[in-house]
Amino acid sequence: MVKQVGIIGLGKMGFNLSLNLIDNDYSLVAYNRSIEKTKQLAKKGASPAFSIQDLAQKLASPKIILLMLTAGKPVEETIASLIPHLKKGDILIDGGNSYFKDSIARYNLLKKKGIDFLDMGTSGGTEGARHGTSLTIGGEKEIFKKIEFLFRDISVKDGYVYLGKSGAGHYAKMIHNAIEYSMLESYSEGFEVLEKSPYDFNFKEIAKVWNNGSIIRSHILSLIENVFTKNPELKNIDGIIGGGETGTWAYKTALSQKVEFNTLKHSLQKRKSSEKNQSFSTKLISALRNEFGGHEIKKK
Ligand SMILES: NC(=O)c1ccc[n+]([C@@H]2O[C@H](COP(=O)([O-])OP(=O)(O)OC[C@H]3O[C@@H](n4cnc5c(N)ncnc54)[C@H](OP(=O)(O)O)[C@@H]3O)[C@@H](O)[C@H]2O)c1
Repeated sequence: MVKQVGIIGLGKMGFNLSLNLIDNDYSLVAYNRSIEKTKQLAKKGASPAFSIQDLAQKLASPKIILLMLTAGKPVEETIASLIPHLKKGDILIDGGNSYFKDSIARYNLLKKKGIDFLDMGTSGGTEGARHGTSLTIGGEKEIFKKIEFLFRDISVKDGYVYLGKSGAGHYAKMIHNAIEYSMLESYSEGFEVLEKSPYDFNFKEIAKVWNNGSIIRSHILSLIENVFTKNPELKNIDGIIGGGETGTWAYKTALSQKVEFNTLKHSLQKRKSSEKNQSFSTKLISALRNEFGGHEIKKK
């Protein structure tokens, strides 16, 4: 069976997921707003598309199309442009960090037209996208089952799960990011207190030993080890922490359910205040976001 997929959005995640799909023997049709990335991916084996219409025409029916776009307007506008080229039985997957309520609205809109829609929370950063990601999926179970092979192919072993009706995949991803924000904050402030201590600590060695059998070992801590290996004093890093809106959505959701989530609240405040006040911990978070997500790291 020829496994064919269309992808829209060849940014840090979409480009790596595309290479992952090609490695898994997919016939891939790829489109990106700016043409250069489409051309680059064509050199790696994808069939390039130079408009939404071109992408739709190059895909056999029923079409499977994966969106890997910045959340909000880009997703909204892309779906609107796609709709005239889709028909009953086609499946659209949003693999970006869209707000779960937006995903439910999109599911309802597309359902009226007979187009199926799954929301997919994608985790594991760019490395995961390239070599095996971790996925939380929402939407109709029957549709999930129909293309389960795709989720299996692009994820690590036991790295995908169907979570329930529309929005469930993005809801779970929003909470994943909220936990990530809190963990990054906790580790980074811990290291800041180490940095301000009267001792001449070797942070890389501390991260390494804590990653070797301690109860706070984690993937984030192994990335901390990488960061300090490359840049022991976090030199030339501007500690302004960027980021999307998932943390804010998660906090509002938590409050609406009377969950305090103070660790998240604090990390959101620190991110905001990092625009004016940078510290060792905000620099470490910036460096870590670059390490796992390829997010731009500003230099001083
Ligand atoms: N980076 C991560 O670690 C990570 C992990 C999990 C999930 N995510 C989510 O996955 C999605 C993609 O992330 P990314 O890191 O790949 O972001 P990125 O590198 O910034 O790529 C964004 C993509 O969206 C496209 N885009 C932006 N605005 C657009 C518009 N108005 N119209 C059409 N296309 C537009 C960009 O096209 P151009 O190339 O033309 O700008 C690019 O293809 C986001 O929702 C993100 O939150 C990211």
